[in-house]
Amino acid sequence: MQKGKFITFEGIDGAGKTTQIDALEFWLRERGLEVVRTREPGGTPLGEKIRAMLLADDMCVAAETLLFFASRAEHIERVIVPALERGAWVLSDRFTDATYAYQVGGKNFDPAKVEMLETLVQGALQPFKTVLFDISPEIAAQRLARARAADRFEAESREFFRRVREAYLDRAQRSAERFFIVDASREPHSITEALLTEAQSWI
Ligand SMILES: Nc1ncnc2c1ncn2[C@@H]1O[C@H](COP(=O)(O)OP(=O)(O)O)[C@@H](O)[C@H]1O
Ligand SMILES: [Mg+2]
Repeated sequence: MQKGKFITFEGIDGAGKTTQIDALEFWLRERGLEVVRTREPGGTPLGEKIRAMLLADDMCVAAETLLFFASRAEHIERVIVPALERGAWVLSDRFTDATYAYQVGGKNFDPAKVEMLETLVQGALQPFKTVLFDISPEIAAQRLARARAADRFEAESREFFRRVREAYLDRAQRSAERFFIVDASREPHSITEALLTEAQSWI
């Protein structure tokens, strides 16, 4: 039985995930809890190499999906499960919902294939809670234009991000008890307040 709590954070690029995970991490640490902050793709030395390929190299969507799951297998085995067994809180910036949103929703990859890979790589492991930062692609793009140069995913079209957003909302509807949806277009402090109020019920 795993003692820790596995929390994942989802939403299109520029939604404000990093900003709000920072706030939650600080809040949990203040309460004396062990926090393992991680991300996908990445989270391990091999995962970070895979991340560099995924963000820069052109590839077909099947290869892309397999690389995401290769990174995820390593991440689960070496980081997530050991941390949960110690009783830590694992905060992951993206996880498998992102594969359904980007590769299935955004790029039309077959969801049945993703389900097979999910079972193969995760077994029964699922996040305890998933925070979805919901925002329009227009507002997210305005934020990113001010913040950083776009990688291969961030350079996709507005229409692509509309499909990704819809796929995320669809998943949240199907697993309503796991998801906490945040209106990410609001001011950072009011999002933090909503997130920390919700997090009190997770402890
Ligand atoms: N609620 C917000 N309102 C306005 N700007 C924000 C908000 N949250 C984050 N930002 C800014 O938008 C940019 C993207 O935020 P970030 O947290 O990196 O998003 P993500 O990790 O989801 O891509 C950053 O420059 C950040 O400072
Ligand atoms: Mg981020």
